[in-house]
Amino acid sequence: MKLSSLVSQINPSYTLEMTAKAAKLRSEGIEVIDFGVGEPDFNTPSHIIEAAYKAMVNGHTKYTAGSGSIELKKSIQTFLVKSKNVKSIELDNIIVSSGAKQSLSIACQALFDKEDEVIIFSPFWVSFPEFVKIAGAKPVIISTDIDNNFEPLLQDVEKAISIKTKGMIINSPGNPTGAVWSKETFEALLEIAKKNNITVISDETYDQLVFDGEFFPAEVINKNIGANILTVKSFSKTYAMTGWRVGFAYGEMSIIKAMAKIQGQTTSCPNSISQKAAIAALDSDQSFVESMKKEFLKRRNAMNRGLSSIEHIKICVPGGAFYYFVDLSHYYNKTDKNGKIIKDSFDLSNYILDEARVVTVAGDAFGAKNYIRLSFATNEDIINKGINRIKKSLSELK
Ligand SMILES: Cc1ncc(COP(=O)(O)O)c(C=O)c1O
Repeated sequence: MKLSSLVSQINPSYTLEMTAKAAKLRSEGIEVIDFGVGEPDFNTPSHIIEAAYKAMVNGHTKYTAGSGSIELKKSIQTFLVKSKNVKSIELDNIIVSSGAKQSLSIACQALFDKEDEVIIFSPFWVSFPEFVKIAGAKPVIISTDIDNNFEPLLQDVEKAISIKTKGMIINSPGNPTGAVWSKETFEALLEIAKKNNITVISDETYDQLVFDGEFFPAEVINKNIGANILTVKSFSKTYAMTGWRVGFAYGEMSIIKAMAKIQGQTTSCPNSISQKAAIAALDSDQSFVESMKKEFLKRRNAMNRGLSSIEHIKICVPGGAFYYFVDLSHYYNKTDKNGKIIKDSFDLSNYILDEARVVTVAGDAFGAKNYIRLSFATNEDIINKGINRIKKSLSELK
């Protein structure tokens, strides 16, 4: 069977591959510590689950409007104004999707054409370049450095812009780095975008998981700049609802309308029950989010203590999300006890899995070859145990 050329251009999700590998080892009875996870290990709060149950019992099991129910859009509208993400917003400027992922993907399809170039900053979330490729456009990667909190240098951005540049995807707090970009960096990027007529897609999936300082939504910073921004947010990480598949985007009406057209022809509408659950998540008190964040902060600090005790590691304390992205390139070109040379981040991640029985994700998957991603979405005891095992396995490389 001859498949489309698109399929051969798209990379499979490496993070999902590592999750599958860990599951396989567990099914063989091997105890594995999972630092590969990309989701909170908390249960969805019970009031959200109850709202979903009630929705089913009361017959909310039918298609909703393609771009999301009016009721949920009203809750999002109230939430965005109350949380000072926007001063005011119309319902027609909002689309609800099956997760932030769908909003991001259809945004790229709505905005970009074949010859267009889209700026993405590495380390990047694995799906960004694939969204752009699925749209037929070309990802242009700009590297950032751990010594600069993974924030881009403006001269690199200016240099990467051509007449073909149509979009820029930003993600703060970021996956895989957890970096929260400064207000100044945001301002400068938005000014460049405005000057060059570039649409900015701001992925704010982790906006409620910021530990240090204040998070500024792109649209807030944009108030006096006026760049064209599409903001994408998610229920997944904020309310431990990854499996419910619900997220949303807001921005200029013409973009939202175009996205709704694509969504309507691909998934009809987001899940009706999840939409009812999402209303409960937004309308109720937010104490769950605060307590989850407190717990993540404790875990971040535990992972920081452990990692700081490893020799020849370079770390940057993540200001948000639940990932450490650590430079372990010192261990490349070293040899394991079987004589195998560790050549790159894939080799190192596999070595750590085989020797330490700890799942990590290779930096190459995120476009950054010197790094390994470690998630701290697991309890402190496991964090301590996992880091000790990694430390021991690294010390055995010669
Ligand atoms: C940066 C980033 N954006 C978007 C998503 C997808 O979120 P959702 O579950 O809402 O599709 C993820 C999930 O890992 C992510 O890390």
